Amino acid sequence: MLKAEWAAKQALLESALEQELNIDNALDKTLAESMRYSLMAGGKRLRPVLLMEAAEAVGGRGEDYIKAACALEMIHTYSLIHDDLPAMDNDDYRRGKLTNHKVYGAGMATLAGDALLTLAFEVITRQKAEPEVLCRVIREVSQAAGPDGMVGGQAIDMESEGHRIPMEQLRKMHMGKTGALFRAAIRSGAILAGADEAELNALTRYAEAFGLAFQITDDILDVVGDQDVIGKPVGSDERNNKSTYVTLTSLEEAKRLAQEAVDEAVEALEPFGEKAQFLKELVEFLISRKN
Ligand code: IPE
Ligand code: IPE
Ligand code: MG
Ligand code: MG
Ligand code: MG
Repeated sequence: MLKAEWAAKQALLESALEQELNIDNALDKTLAESMRYSLMAGGKRLRPVLLMEAAEAVGGRGEDYIKAACALEMIHTYSLIHDDLPAMDNDDYRRGKLTNHKVYGAGMATLAGDALLTLAFEVITRQKAEPEVLCRVIREVSQAAGPDGMVGGQAIDMESEGHRIPMEQLRKMHMGKTGALFRAAIRSGAILAGADEAELNALTRYAEAFGLAFQITDDILDVVGDQDVIGKPVGSDERNNKSTYVTLTSLEEAKRLAQEAVDEAVEALEPFGEKAQFLKELVEFLISRKN
């Protein structure tokens, strides 16, 4: 069920994202091509899928929120383009292809990221919803993407290179750089579909545990992954002297902590029963994922 439903939602997203890019009407063709190069490179589409699935867990229809879902994927893709830049992680491969800056140069890659971030907020304004609801969602997403969310986490990540940081700081970094967008995706789906306070709290708990399990697994894959499968370099964290769950603890301990987070996420879904089956299977799959 997980794989089929995931693939169906991915297919919906591929066409919606392509449509939102509207490449034929672009002011600058190179910029548009470089945005498309990274956006349509075949990511897992986890954040938009989670947004739609959270809506379904509270009785909504995922497809109704495709615009908000596209916006999340655009913000995520921008974060990847910038994360790979020479001034940041300096990586050559992403999503199984050369990184954006390797193809278009660092300047154009920076602009492609800027453009995807900005376009995301235009796209989200086209999401059908009550104005107050949409405003709340835009606030969720902008807070998650900004200085107290993803960008803040990336700053801690950069400043932590080359020295050991306390575990509590590592957790904060993960919750920011990776957790915040997952949290915003899930909360946005729930809010759009009219979740009540108790549902929103339970899904937030799931989201936070999901984000943590996800980034710990990303740290593990950076050590034990296969570049051909993960589509990005292995050993990037070691090369950059990063603080990760693996470098600060051990491979075994990182795996244990990831499993602990998965258990926490599954527990948070209890009130939803069958309606959260996808979310349950997804977080359980996470721990064994190879890409
Ligand atoms: C990679 O995210 C970056 C992190 C936050 C760890 P994903 O693993 O979701 O990347 P794509 O979207 O599938 O390429
Ligand atoms: C980056 O974390 C998370 C982002 C906000 C992009 P990583 O630097 O570990 O992500 P990967 O491993 O390059 O995908
Ligand atoms: Mg990084
Ligand atoms: Mg990186
Ligand atoms: Mg990584």
